[in-house]
Amino acid sequence: MAEVWIDGQRVPVAKAYPVYHKYRHQVIDMAGEADDTAIALAVESATRARTKPLSVHERYRILEKAADLLQERHEEFATLICQEAGKPLKDARTEVSRGQQTLRYAAVAARTLHGEEVPVRGNPGSENRLAFTVRKPYGTMLAITPFNFPLNLVLHKVAPAIAGGNAVILKPAPQTPLTAMKLAELMADAGLPPGWLNVLTGSGPELGQKLVSHPGIQLISFTGSQKVGQEIRAHAGLKPVLLELGNNSANIVHEDADMDLAAKTLAARAFGYAGQVCIAVQRIYVQRNIFEPFQERLIAASKALVVGDPEDPRTDVGPMITEDAANRAWAWYEDALQQGAQALLPAEKQGALVTPTILVNVAPSMQVMAEEVFAPLAGLVPYDTIDEAIAWANESRYGLQAGVFTRSLSIAIKCAQELEVGGVIINDSSSYRADNMPYGGIKDSGLGREGPEYAILEMTYPTVVVLNL
Ligand code: SIN
Repeated sequence: MAEVWIDGQRVPVAKAYPVYHKYRHQVIDMAGEADDTAIALAVESATRARTKPLSVHERYRILEKAADLLQERHEEFATLICQEAGKPLKDARTEVSRGQQTLRYAAVAARTLHGEEVPVRGNPGSENRLAFTVRKPYGTMLAITPFNFPLNLVLHKVAPAIAGGNAVILKPAPQTPLTAMKLAELMADAGLPPGWLNVLTGSGPELGQKLVSHPGIQLISFTGSQKVGQEIRAHAGLKPVLLELGNNSANIVHEDADMDLAAKTLAARAFGYAGQVCIAVQRIYVQRNIFEPFQERLIAASKALVVGDPEDPRTDVGPMITEDAANRAWAWYEDALQQGAQALLPAEKQGALVTPTILVNVAPSMQVMAEEVFAPLAGLVPYDTIDEAIAWANESRYGLQAGVFTRSLSIAIKCAQELEVGGVIINDSSSYRADNMPYGGIKDSGLGREGPEYAILEMTYPTVVVLNL
């Protein structure tokens, strides 16, 4: 059936496109192609909903109830994510559990959002004034979300937006629209009135382009590639735009690190879910005097990962999202080999399935190091001093998160202070994320922070109120 979600219900549209099981390549279901009528109806519905604002307590209650319902429907969501995103079942289950946390943190953020007193009385002539801020929703937020976390990255936008009093129009990734539609139903079951969440699915870029420049949208939140992020910013006019973009995450393994912990963690986080995570481990800098023993451990840990069917609960590395994506990664791999890189663990490719791949003799200019690889491929580089490792890690146009393995407090603090990223993770990989953390980057990794307590500030604006007493 060709349907989108508008005004609290499934609404038929004229055209549909197939959504495939990313491993078995069978059609799971059809998704609607939102057309101009659907866009107009969704914007109208969101605008109408906002004429009857939800009280803070209602927002809290709906978000909490949604978390409860997600807990009840855990396996249903995990199975769908596994099938439409090709995400290994164990990671899909983790994603659903994380989604509950995101909803509960957003519920708290709704309740605790507050303005502050502004000390204007220090100004001559303002002795009798009292000033404070109140925070207000922007209006209707457009959320454009990626395929790799079809539930939790959607919730990182939808939940704080609603917590802050905004209505949302969600355009999910073309590859993973079904989880978004299921979430819309769940939110309605949790008591979200019609219009507060509308889902417009579509297979091409035109839908997003029309929504970005639509006058009925007041705020945009996007997760995806840096190229698309820049296009959105260019077409958004003066609308505030929140961008969570890519990374080529650096991880440093210092000579005093727990090498077993580092090797196991970095293998799991470079190759798990085929490396299709914005903070997946990509560049690994290892102090030269432990390079050989670390390399052996990393190869062993990588070989121990199970590659194959994402529905098998033992699988760590499933398919990439499409065969085209796998071909792109393969081309970067071959290009690196041609330029002199060597494969410690060579890539094997079958359709969209790519095996864990470790390269050495890599140069910073190779695509596999300089760009976001978003594939199960990591480059290993020896360093002599920590200053050198930090300089190489910073030699990137991205700056989302980095990982550092060391037992030294001073090395840990030095890295935290000098790495140019939004998050430094000590004794875990760049890929660590708890859902209440501030999450976001600098440089080409984007603008703004996620994590409900932080996102709600981005999704509301302060109005200063001045009382002349
Ligand atoms: C991302 O790919 O940006 C999200 C990572 C996460 O939430 O763990």
